[in-house]
Amino acid sequence: MPEAISIVGLGRLGAPMAACLAHKGLRVIGVDSSPAKVAALARREPPVHEPGLAEVLANAPGEITATMDLHEAVRDSGVTFIVVATPSDPGGGFSLSQVLPVCEGVGRALREKASYHLVVLTSTVMPGATGGQVRPLLEDRSGKTCGRELGLCYNPEFIALGSVVRDFLNPDFVLVGESDRRAGDLLEALYRRVLDRHSPLARMSWVNAELAKLAVNTYVTTKITFANMLARICERLDGADVDVVTSALGLDSRIGKKYLKGAIGYGGPCFPRDNLALAALARGIGAPADLAEATDRTNRGEVERLAERVLQRLPRDGTVGVLGLSYKPDTDVVEESQGLLLSLRLASAGIPVVAFDPLANESAQRAAPGAFQLAPTLEECARRADLLVLATPWPQLKELEVLLSRPASRRVAVIDCWRQLDPVLLSGVAEYLPLGIGSGAPRARREEK
Ligand SMILES: NC(=O)c1ccc[n+]([C@@H]2O[C@H](COP(=O)([O-])OP(=O)(O)OC[C@H]3O[C@@H](n4cnc5c(N)ncnc54)[C@H](O)[C@@H]3O)[C@@H](O)[C@H]2O)c1
Repeated sequence: MPEAISIVGLGRLGAPMAACLAHKGLRVIGVDSSPAKVAALARREPPVHEPGLAEVLANAPGEITATMDLHEAVRDSGVTFIVVATPSDPGGGFSLSQVLPVCEGVGRALREKASYHLVVLTSTVMPGATGGQVRPLLEDRSGKTCGRELGLCYNPEFIALGSVVRDFLNPDFVLVGESDRRAGDLLEALYRRVLDRHSPLARMSWVNAELAKLAVNTYVTTKITFANMLARICERLDGADVDVVTSALGLDSRIGKKYLKGAIGYGGPCFPRDNLALAALARGIGAPADLAEATDRTNRGEVERLAERVLQRLPRDGTVGVLGLSYKPDTDVVEESQGLLLSLRLASAGIPVVAFDPLANESAQRAAPGAFQLAPTLEECARRADLLVLATPWPQLKELEVLLSRPASRRVAVIDCWRQLDPVLLSGVAEYLPLGIGSGAPRARREEK
């Protein structure tokens, strides 16, 4: 096992990775171009918001140092993970604008190193990028040959923000595209030391791993969209209940129950982009990608469908309260979140919107400054709204059952996208409008499915 691991990019994925490796006793050198992130990690404080990260960093037995000096970090480590952002490019693929400068720096540092070094590309890239751009650049700048003095693996992650620490240590599987056996063996040994359980490693060529990363996320987005399609059908079918239908689907071992909630669209920094990237790849090489394209199109239509529903129910001059701006609970990330997109859609039509998120008010303000109003508390948002939309299934939003039941509370309409609230508790105090339920479906207390 090498003496130290360097991690370049201390963002939402890289910072928790650094913490997890140190948690397992490894010596970690974190690198970032942001002085604030470097300073935070050096103090063992989280450079990003992520549940559990502060505790892991504070208690990790492994040494953690942080620097802006990539050269020094590569020199002093045996493995370098590259975890910088890969923004979407206009064609739907991933830009290497941050990855390639890092590869140049890593390559130049390796020119002065005599010992073997493993470079692990964790940033999501398009199929063909590791072999087409990353490898030649590393070889050119280092003067070394991949598969001999230098190993290169593509090793993307499938973590979800909000549970990065747990997901990183307990993955369903680890995906590895390898330049050669030695590189793959070294990365496998590293994971065996770090993982909390014996997850399988899927080892393959770079291009297969690059495609597999996009395929996994595109498959999941297709599944989510399928469940959402069932929800829209149930809404128009007397007596139908999407939770009852998907609970049957989930029992089929060919399908499985995860990601079958039947609610509103997916968002976040990975799902929408990976889906589009797979479609862009297919189009670019003349292969059909109808399924990925239909998933994306259907998902984008979810916000419009929800907005129409809101507008049908909203009293004249009424205010919409949007509850949940993060794309999922336990994160402050608002990229492509349904709550944010809905707020923007309604506000752009001149509808007064007041929104609240337990964690993401600030990031929403940064993403869309002044576009709509933000309430500092759930109570204030509920008080100011005539119609409420529960857009993110934060457990804290259950408190609405109590807030709306207070004698002084106004009677409002509540569109419950995730069917979080108890219709029995709300009966008589709010007009309860769950998505995914047809008229006449039994309204007994709904247990979490
Ligand atoms: N966030 C997720 O949920 C997630 C999940 C799976 C995969 N990914 C992929 O992981 C990669 C990283 O994503 P992220 O969300 O952590 O990004 P991020 O934007 O949160 O973090 C990237 C970090 O890289 C740093 N950086 C950029 N250029 C640098 C340079 N030249 N030298 C040093 N540091 C530099 C930035 O300052 C930033 O701190 C992306 O390719 C993303 O697609 C992300």
